[in-house]
Amino acid sequence: MSDTARVTIGYWGQGLQYPEHSHAPEEIYCILAGSATFHSEGQPACVAGAGEMIHHMPHQKHAIDMTPGPLLALIPWRGEGLNTKSDLG
Ligand SMILES: [Fe+2]
Repeated sequence: MSDTARVTIGYWGQGLQYPEHSHAPEEIYCILAGSATFHSEGQPACVAGAGEMIHHMPHQKHAIDMTPGPLLALIPWRGEGLNTKSDLG
């Protein structure tokens, strides 16, 4: 248990889209398997795969297309608002 970090393991099927959202905690996608196209505010879209990491700063908008997909990732969060839902759109 931790009050300063939260870890999610997520799996998204090929072709799914995780719509644009933002949140207070800093986030790192540690890609365990598969690949996806990341759209991170202020950065060019990029395809990332197993062994790569994508970092999002607090409140940085981001979206993910599971193309080519699918995607399996371990996603640590740290910072304020660990129990607050993301802002979509
Ligand atoms: Fe996120």
